[in-house]
Amino acid sequence: MAAAPDNKVLSSEILRLKEERDAIILAHNYQIGPIQDIADITGDSLELARAAARMEGDVIVFCGVDFMAETAAILSPEKIVVLPAADACCPMAGMITADELRLAKSKNPDAAVVCYVNSTAEVKAESDICCTSSNAVAVVQSLTEDRVIFVPDRNLALYAARFTDKEILPWDGFCIVHDRITAGHVQEARKRHPSATVLVHPECRPDVIDAADHVASTSGIIRYVCSSSDKEFIIGTEIGILHRLNKDCPKKTCHPLSESMVCTNMKKTDLAMVCDALTTLRPRITVPEETAARARRAITRMLSVDA
Ligand code: 13P
Ligand code: SF4
Repeated sequence: MAAAPDNKVLSSEILRLKEERDAIILAHNYQIGPIQDIADITGDSLELARAAARMEGDVIVFCGVDFMAETAAILSPEKIVVLPAADACCPMAGMITADELRLAKSKNPDAAVVCYVNSTAEVKAESDICCTSSNAVAVVQSLTEDRVIFVPDRNLALYAARFTDKEILPWDGFCIVHDRITAGHVQEARKRHPSATVLVHPECRPDVIDAADHVASTSGIIRYVCSSSDKEFIIGTEIGILHRLNKDCPKKTCHPLSESMVCTNMKKTDLAMVCDALTTLRPRITVPEETAARARRAITRMLSVDA
């Protein structure tokens, strides 16, 4: 049996195919190191959505999970969007359906609907505006309504509620990676690294947010570590971010808050899959235009909010 090509061979084949296809590769900060290293842009959900909307090229290879590729397809319907790992999904996005949201809206007709991008295109289509972890507070503050249905992440909803007098009605969804972290994990990590600054993602529970020193999106965490005068950090988000932290801020020491913070869906994409996706232009992600048009309104409204 022939040996599988190594990462060096795959990376140079990907670069060749990228040229041939006029493709760009977008990778989320949680992707495995070799994927981050071949990507044109590595970033958080907001940065990747902005990149998908603005970048030239015929093809977007989205190394992340399904809702991210869907958002790219909605924003750039003229491009071919491929998700190399077909089954890479975000369980949180499955925690609310469009029917459930329609029911919540009918019970609260005066409320605006803010929808975290970690959601399906159908749920986005039922929403007034989207948000990501980096602009959720600004998005809520941008609304004129006094009541806000916030779906699907209850922890992000409760985090945004700290910064507004509006009544926030959180949906009961959550991230299976961040929601299992407790304030006890933070205390244990502080005991292990007493001089370290604790940074956590807003998908964490409220008591974890209270126990941390700073809260930010994945790219917000990277910016904070790189620009801070502190030298040592405990990082309370998915461990894939450590690859970028070590690359972008090599003089800083970053410890994972918990080794258990692994998103298996974000780890499904490898270089061989990217190579296949560029060769076959599959698995392709498309959104029916009737749904896409309504979802696009909510996403572009979000992109116009300064955060
Ligand atoms: P960011 O937008 O902060 O990168 O978060 C995306 C995500 O899925 C976090 O779990
Ligand atoms: Fe979804 Fe959580 Fe994975 Fe982010 S880390 S993609 S919210 S399951």
